[in-house]
Amino acid sequence: MRTQVAIIGAGPAGLLLGQLLHRHGIDNIILERQTPDYVLSRIRAGVIEQVAVDLLDEAGAGERMHREGLVHDGTQILADGVRHRIDFRELTGKTVLVYGQTEITRDLMEARAACGAPSVYEVEDVSLHDFDGHKPRVRYRKDGRETEVECDFIAGCDGFHGVSRKSVPSDHIKTYERVYPFGWLGLLSDTPPVSDELIYVRHSLGFALCSMRSPTRSRYYLQCSLAEDIDAWPDDRFWSELRMRLDRDARDKLVTGRSIEKSIAPLRSFVAEPMRFGRLFLAGDAAHIVPPTGAKGLNLAASDVRYLSQAFIDFYMSKSTAGIDHYSSRALARVWQAERFSWWMTTMLHTFPENSGFDQKLQRAELDYVFRSKVAATALAEQYVGLPF
Ligand code: APR
Ligand code: PHB
Repeated sequence: MRTQVAIIGAGPAGLLLGQLLHRHGIDNIILERQTPDYVLSRIRAGVIEQVAVDLLDEAGAGERMHREGLVHDGTQILADGVRHRIDFRELTGKTVLVYGQTEITRDLMEARAACGAPSVYEVEDVSLHDFDGHKPRVRYRKDGRETEVECDFIAGCDGFHGVSRKSVPSDHIKTYERVYPFGWLGLLSDTPPVSDELIYVRHSLGFALCSMRSPTRSRYYLQCSLAEDIDAWPDDRFWSELRMRLDRDARDKLVTGRSIEKSIAPLRSFVAEPMRFGRLFLAGDAAHIVPPTGAKGLNLAASDVRYLSQAFIDFYMSKSTAGIDHYSSRALARVWQAERFSWWMTTMLHTFPENSGFDQKLQRAELDYVFRSKVAATALAEQYVGLPF
């Protein structure tokens, strides 16, 4: 079998890349380890930057997102009992769209099925070969049969645990990592959101976040210890802990109900450099992870895909290798900005078990600066809505 670009992984990064390439007449195949249903069962964040919205439109997968997504002009920060608003529109002229990333994956899957581009789900033992030469190949097994795909390029869009990054010899790759000493316990429920805007909560009991998927579906998070057992968190306990971290207004408005999903996720910052090895290119979670506090995971994957799709398009349409040659440095410059922002939001809003009194005072001073200074609030807003390219 032969294709131009072999894409490993059918998460948002792989699917978006596949659609953009297909629209420019570039052949590609997507190889995914899981079933489509499994891919769609993963619950992810739900805040989309304008640049990611534009890219989904360009991929022909934005129609439902515009119909059902909620435009948010700002966000709220509730710090030690007092609420502040960051007005994105006033400070930056921009907004974000609240729309579940699971729904984005679904829309991209449907767009791909509609155009008939090939995807192979439930592949086993994917292996990458000769990407340091001119004729890379990908091998996989499906239903017991081995297949080899010859291609011009391989796009490793297979997430943090994927095979692509691990295929690079260890002396060619450098990784940077910070693991945070807590996790997020998330709950999804078919209840109306407590507020029209997201509320990020700093509280001595730990961080909390009130988010949403639609006017009738809410998503809440609580900072929790990494040793926490999900079975020790029946819904009632979750709601009463959340209530304690909210202010009076939110407590009065909070509508509780049965959870439809509940899970614990650890928080991590991670970057692998470079993002290109010969004819293998990493994109999305395969190359970097951010803690979810700034909602940058999918947005960063989309920005990698923007650079990478353009690089391939330039290569095939005008024989230019400039985009390919600069992919890693361009993508990494943006990745590190998002890493810094996500680390900063996480550090400012969470309770760190090892923090001294001095650290806590600094944290509070940092927040007060954001609340009192228009310049500081603008810096937060500018990064939250997405830095320009
Ligand atoms: N072979 C084939 N597919 C694989 C392999 C493998 N060896 N390993 C992993 N995969 C698949 C996973 O099953 C998954 O569907 O690759 C896909 C990677 O998808 P994501 O983990 O969602 O990564 P990415 O597409 O980069 O997502 C970017 O979007 O939803 C957000 O927060 C999420 O930050 C993430 C961002
Ligand atoms: C979510 O809705 O799941 C969400 C929103 C904002 C974040 C993280 C997660 O910062």
